[in-house]
Amino acid sequence: MKDGKIHRKIKVHFEPDGVGALVDKGANLLQAAVDAGVHITASCGGAGVCGTCKVLIERGEVESSPSKHITNDDWNRGIRKACQSKVLTDLKVVVPVESRLETAVVSREIDMTAGVGQPAGTVATGWKFKPPLNKCYLELPMPTLSDNTSDLSRLLRGLKKYCNLKYAGVDPGVLKKLPQVMRRKNYRVTATTLVKAVKTQADKRKPTVINIESGNTTRAHLGLAFDIGTTTVCGQLLDLGRGEVIAEAMTRNGQIGYGEDVITRIAYSQRSGGLKKLQQAVVTTINNIIQVLLDNSKFKSEDIGHMTVAGNTVMTHILFGVDPKYIRLAPYTPVANFFPPVKANSLGIVVQSHVHVFSFPCVASYVGGDIVSGVVAAGMHQREKLTFYIDIGTNGEIVIGNSDWMVTAACSAGPAFEGGGIKHGMIATEGAIEDFKIREIGCKPEFRTIGGVKAKGICGSGLINIVAGLLGAGIISQNGKFNFDAEEGRIREGEDGCEYLIVPAPESQTGKDIVITEVDIDNLMRAKAAIFAGCQTLTKNVGVSCADLEQVIIAGAFGSHIDVENSITIGLLPDISRHKFAFVGNGSLSGSRLVSFSTDLLDDARKVATMMTNFELSESPDFMHHYVAGLFLPNTHAGDFPSVKRRLIGLKGR
Ligand code: FES
Repeated sequence: MKDGKIHRKIKVHFEPDGVGALVDKGANLLQAAVDAGVHITASCGGAGVCGTCKVLIERGEVESSPSKHITNDDWNRGIRKACQSKVLTDLKVVVPVESRLETAVVSREIDMTAGVGQPAGTVATGWKFKPPLNKCYLELPMPTLSDNTSDLSRLLRGLKKYCNLKYAGVDPGVLKKLPQVMRRKNYRVTATTLVKAVKTQADKRKPTVINIESGNTTRAHLGLAFDIGTTTVCGQLLDLGRGEVIAEAMTRNGQIGYGEDVITRIAYSQRSGGLKKLQQAVVTTINNIIQVLLDNSKFKSEDIGHMTVAGNTVMTHILFGVDPKYIRLAPYTPVANFFPPVKANSLGIVVQSHVHVFSFPCVASYVGGDIVSGVVAAGMHQREKLTFYIDIGTNGEIVIGNSDWMVTAACSAGPAFEGGGIKHGMIATEGAIEDFKIREIGCKPEFRTIGGVKAKGICGSGLINIVAGLLGAGIISQNGKFNFDAEEGRIREGEDGCEYLIVPAPESQTGKDIVITEVDIDNLMRAKAAIFAGCQTLTKNVGVSCADLEQVIIAGAFGSHIDVENSITIGLLPDISRHKFAFVGNGSLSGSRLVSFSTDLLDDARKVATMMTNFELSESPDFMHHYVAGLFLPNTHAGDFPSVKRRLIGLKGR
């Protein structure tokens, strides 16, 4: 009512969610969707350049301008870019399937113990099971006139006597509830203690009592391990008493509605209230995952006592509500690489007030705690073997080295490996096409989905296999374009240009055709070119060649496995002996879990972060040269891929 008049709010209704928001006239439609809790893909963060946020205005009026992303036909039927539309009247907006973000939290099958399922020689060894969080049940003597020492002294005396804990500090929150809790069950209590994240000579990890409960609660002793990815967030519920994983779940990072990579997120954080919105978005994602983890177990939120997170530097800054602005500006300085543990609920995470969040230390602006976590989990710092560790994700991070030295670099690959920016892309969960083959040229494609159910979309590893399969069958050329002569019927002109039909509508879970488009292939080629260029540049700059590598460890949240042969075929991985490759899945999540089980590895995480030397790929002229060479399948330097070259020549000769 700024001008003295009462302005009626405008109603914006979104389908198929069936939800709405009340906004002012002139409000941004993408923002209205965010306010209504509707998730629309906005790869460029609302800058208007990606065209991923298209919606159908079914009723009402918006102010918007035609754009190259919208055909005349689509414009005439009411398609608009949400980020470039101002709301003028009450609206009914339909978000088409290709513009929708998957936000459902999905549970995953889990390995029950740390390290199970990882190939030998790719997991940290020699650590003792010593979680940073401990529970100790005490049956304390009741006070008497001859022993009327304070409740706290009685507790500390008991911890020393029964749990061998000396000089334990006490969180002030414990003191407040101590008198009631101790008396409720006649001085039978369970004390929860937390060791410091950093070991110093002086205190030898002096533990602090952070919680006190009546009776024996040692069976409910849980922790949370998280990988906070730019595109995907994964969490595990851990039994800290037995060293087991209880449940696992994952979903899209809710920040994805504000941009698909770390640069657009940083840009968004600089808008008014932007940092807060991004922080809340990832915290909501974390809270949703925690809820699903608890729903899939017999435990309650009160049983969770600890939390470990691993994320890249930008994700870590945003989670902690720290301005990431200077990460993007030369000379690219993060505010901090080591974040002290904080109370989880001070960040908005819905757990008890005594739960602390431990965050993996970062190395540099674009080399974060996720890679440190993965390297620690893989035990790369424990072996002399010259190892290459690649974390394939939106922010691709690579490390070369061994127990003596490590050099690391990061390259922005975009979200294609996690199914982002791909027409029918999805995260690696049930229904995602993971394997794909064309046995004979001209034959129908064969595919397998995660969980063996009807196909719903394509995950990152599926995308690699599809592109390799199409290349091998001559359906696409080495420049990633469809070869209309090679296939009749499945290659066609679609809404977004040329596409190849993988699953016809009647056979899919969505009831719609599942296709791969030339734009998808282009996105994958750019992503793999960035990763491979990073590998080439880094190896050259440390004075070794790919052939010198003794082990290549591949990590990523893009599938349950990676087909090495197909990854080499498309030019993502170097063409070296296949036995050197090992896939460890989500390495960042594994490290987060292992550190929750062992303070030995907590120490290793700091050591690894300190020993890594960062190499700025953007400062190297070699990087761009290798990147451009990688925009071809497998690469314009065919000599770097001799086995692929032989195979492709063989195919042409048929
Ligand atoms: S064009 Fe709207 S988010 Fe990119």
